[in-house]
Amino acid sequence: RMAVAPPSYCFVAFPPRAKDGLVVFGKNSARPRDEVQEVVYFSAADHEPESKVECTYISIDQVPRTHAIVISRPAWLWGAEMGANEHGVCIANEAINTREAAAETEALLGMDLVRLGLERGTTAKEALDVIVSLLEEHGQGGNYYEDANSCHSFQSAYLIVDREEAWVLETIGKYWAAEKITEGVKCVCSHLSLTTKIDAEHPELRNYAQSQGWWTGEDEFNFSEVFSPADDHLDCCAGKDSLEKQEESITVQTMIDILRDKASGVCIDSESFLTTASTVSVLPQNRSLPCIHYFTGTPDPSRSIFKPFIFVDDVKLVPKAQSPSFGDDDPAKKEPRFQEKPDRRHELYKAHEWARAVIESGQEQGHKLRKTMLELEKQGLEAMEEILSSSDPLDPAEVGDLFYDCVDTEIKFFK
Ligand SMILES: *[C@@H]1O[C@H](CO)[C@@H](O)[C@H](O)[C@H]1NC(C)=O
Ligand SMILES: *[C@@H]1O[C@H](CO)[C@@H](O)[C@H](O)[C@H]1NC(C)=O
Repeated sequence: RMAVAPPSYCFVAFPPRAKDGLVVFGKNSARPRDEVQEVVYFSAADHEPESKVECTYISIDQVPRTHAIVISRPAWLWGAEMGANEHGVCIANEAINTREAAAETEALLGMDLVRLGLERGTTAKEALDVIVSLLEEHGQGGNYYEDANSCHSFQSAYLIVDREEAWVLETIGKYWAAEKITEGVKCVCSHLSLTTKIDAEHPELRNYAQSQGWWTGEDEFNFSEVFSPADDHLDCCAGKDSLEKQEESITVQTMIDILRDKASGVCIDSESFLTTASTVSVLPQNRSLPCIHYFTGTPDPSRSIFKPFIFVDDVKLVPKAQSPSFGDDDPAKKEPRFQEKPDRRHELYKAHEWARAVIESGQEQGHKLRKTMLELEKQGLEAMEEILSSSDPLDPAEVGDLFYDCVDTEIKFFK
């Protein structure tokens, strides 16, 4: 039985639809309700020749140098739902419904490929090339959830963005197609979105489709038509409308509001699934301005604060937004896997649990708390706007502590 992927939405908007020469990127991560997501920064690193990197389930060859990255990830795995690197590349991953079931055999997870793309790509196109070549070499598969009872495996789509362009990459096993986007807006969700405009593809993609009897070889090759499951409703990408109907030019605030919207279905809050973390990035097309990445690090964006992060040489780690490490004893690392579920809640998560409960109580105290949270967030957004409109160089000492300080303030404030 094929598991149904909850729709996680990701978006990109280019100028002039996005404001002031900014590329705006956003993503909600819909995951099992009780899963903890952490925000982790890794500095750039040099690696010994022939060294290996241990991903969630398999080890692969390491590269001589990995870029600095900041990622938001389910705390039990190696990869990431979304993140950014020091070169202004952002990547989001989506589980997608296709007519071919995903492999349960442990290989690379789509989320591992997000991190590998960020660690190895200096542009969106380079990250795409990294992802598809690793896909070819190692394949994708394995359990996407920390669940001993059942294997939930998915095919993956990716939205890969830099200051100039975005690539939508959709994969089925080792096969893939990609579309380049440089204008307007784009939403990627759990349905295939590529049709006949394909700018890059696996060399055997069409032969494979033909060999499966999914394409005659005569009709125009329409990726979604060929690879979607028969019962898929291509038009239920709720998020697409949310972004397209925006009349004003799109800002960070617009993107945050879209991600917070439960009525539209973009923010998931169902019996089994929840938007467990969210991100928004602004990538100025002017290269002398810094890229700014906002992460919640906590569930439900309508109850969370988006906190800014900027890459500089001296970024302070944020242990309070990171889950405890269980080392080699981690049940996710031992076979049979997931025999126990350790408590992965980090300090920020725990403080935020209290805040969520207060807000959801519907009492006066909850309204007040929410208001104060939004004020805190607004201060951060305004400070970032100032950075983007100023011609003063960044003070690394100040922005290197940015995310750290915001998390600290948030936790203190919930106590
Ligand atoms: C591609 O196929 C989908 C699904 O059948 C359809 O909705 C769409 O209009 C097609 N697009 C083109 C450009 O033919
Ligand atoms: C890019 O930003 C810098 C710093 O704010 C500014 O001095 C420069 O004029 C901008 N360049 C363009 C092409 O807008």
